[in-house]
Amino acid sequence: MAKLWQDGTKASGLSPEVETFLSSLSIDSRLLDEDLQASIAHATMLGERGILGKQDAEAIADCLRTMRAEAAAGELFPDPESEDIHSFIEAELTRRLGEVGKAVHAGRSRNDQVATAFRLRIVKAFQRTEAAVYSAIEAIVQLAEKNSDSLMPGYTHLQRAQPITLAHHLLAWGAALERDASRFRDGRARADECPLGSGALAGSGLPIDRERTASVLGFARPSRNTMDAVADRDACVEYAAACANLMAHLSRACEDMALWASSEYGFVRVGDSASTGSSIMPQKRNPDPAELIRGKSARVFGNLQALLVLQKGLAYAYNRDLQEDKELFFDLETTTTACLKAFAVLVSALEPRKDRMRKALDEGFLEATDVAEYLVLKGIPFRTAYQAAKALVQRCLAQDKRLTELEAEDVGAASGVFASAGVSWRELRAYLEPGACVARRNQTGGPAPERTLEEIARLKLVASQRMKELRSGFRDGRTK
Ligand code: ARG
Repeated sequence: MAKLWQDGTKASGLSPEVETFLSSLSIDSRLLDEDLQASIAHATMLGERGILGKQDAEAIADCLRTMRAEAAAGELFPDPESEDIHSFIEAELTRRLGEVGKAVHAGRSRNDQVATAFRLRIVKAFQRTEAAVYSAIEAIVQLAEKNSDSLMPGYTHLQRAQPITLAHHLLAWGAALERDASRFRDGRARADECPLGSGALAGSGLPIDRERTASVLGFARPSRNTMDAVADRDACVEYAAACANLMAHLSRACEDMALWASSEYGFVRVGDSASTGSSIMPQKRNPDPAELIRGKSARVFGNLQALLVLQKGLAYAYNRDLQEDKELFFDLETTTTACLKAFAVLVSALEPRKDRMRKALDEGFLEATDVAEYLVLKGIPFRTAYQAAKALVQRCLAQDKRLTELEAEDVGAASGVFASAGVSWRELRAYLEPGACVARRNQTGGPAPERTLEEIARLKLVASQRMKELRSGFRDGRTK
């Protein structure tokens, strides 16, 4: 097929191998609808500005609209010989309209054409991925709501540390995902600029109207510099970075779930909708979705890295290197949204085993911090209280009993601090019940059920409001 840039009278000298090598059609065919949309806006503007005759502009826009409808119905098939989807659209227009079709490319270049179609697609991706993050948050919140008083150990260094609730642990994931959602929202606001009319790099000598095409395409404004508009892919990097942060969070939550599902923890059973069996071991119930999400994070981090390296040291303005961006981007979007969907199903499939979680609090002296804090309330300086609490733990260890089983002689044998502080061992014992430890941690962000229930209600409201806005196509970040 003749190239757009080819001398009309001669065949191109391009070797077939290089031609195949350069082609991006298999990837950028996914921008067909976005390019048609941008081409319609461009042709309409050319007509309005008198660069094209009214009738020709209308004929072009109509033909492009027909192609758009055919594409939506799955009836438009890009010529596999095309160099890319953008070349195909002009060639097809010319095939259908003859000479008139050849007029569409006045005042634009493939460089701004690619950047515009891609930008329209990235804006959509920001929005769709943000919505998928909120769906995952909703799954988390639903499980948390049923477990605001399900006591379990919280861990540091993979060692049992202090009593918390399952809801509190789940809300830790939720807090991270809420920030992730906001990264997609912020990134979209910055991406809300239209490259169209930037031409190859220096705009156009024709009297085009960039404000008009930007606003017809629903962008907040035209991009501020024509070279920047065709040379920079930072919107794509921002999308990738938001995906990478999110995937880091999902991978950690997945690791937690995989641990909880093991016999060693036994904190959850993963229901049939999200667990798999083994081909040889009939007893197995494997948390495969958790493992695969963890695994897929590697690909997302890699794509972010690739997008950055792609642009490092690249001379201004457009270079063909940039064609690599689309494949990385589509892979990012597909991978990340698939992971979010699987994650939501996985979380919904968790069946907490409250007895096992509660039992795990019996070993490990998780209330030791609270012994020290109890003494602080009695006027003992923290470091002294810490030493006394440590001595009490050692005493209980030697006596093979839990802190919640301590008696008068244990307190007395451990340290004189307890007596000097006037401690009643019965009062201390009650103070150390895991439920009491959690309940008094009622400061902002703490695990007390009253606090987590408040946080659940807030997060639920934020998620449902934002989903509603996203569904209605609400665009924020307009800064004309
Ligand atoms: N397929 C190319 C891309 O995606 C189109 C731009 C080609 N521009 C050029 N000046 N060769 O980047």
